[in-house]
Amino acid sequence: MALMEWGPTLSVKVKKFDDQHKKLVELVNQLHDAMKAGQGDAMLGLVLQSLISYTATHFADEEKVMQVNGYPDLAKHKIEHEKLVAHVLELQKKFQSGGAVLTLSVMSFLKDWLNTHIQGSDKKYGVFLNAKGIS
Ligand code: FE2
Ligand code: FE2
Repeated sequence: MALMEWGPTLSVKVKKFDDQHKKLVELVNQLHDAMKAGQGDAMLGLVLQSLISYTATHFADEEKVMQVNGYPDLAKHKIEHEKLVAHVLELQKKFQSGGAVLTLSVMSFLKDWLNTHIQGSDKKYGVFLNAKGIS
């Protein structure tokens, strides 16, 4: 069974970002599957890198749209993104130096972070953008 599922409760009502969130959920599930299947470090490293790269693209896209539209909570939102990026890069560093960091608790941290961030902060920009006619 997949670790996470994208459903209507995660919709921010902006198609581009719903699509990106679906992809993020898929990557988190891929990492979870690879971990559960006992895949080697090379494979885990690749999936982790895909997740990190895609997350960077996604955060940059969100921040760009918020900025262009004068979203008042951009600074706060950016800090949330930055904290997660720092956390995951730290994880990757540990992983690369041989630490067995890809554990179930790390996976549930990622899952919880995504769920909380999307349903809280991301939904707020969704409401704001919708009011500007962006969906
Ligand atoms: Fe997001
Ligand atoms: Fe976000």
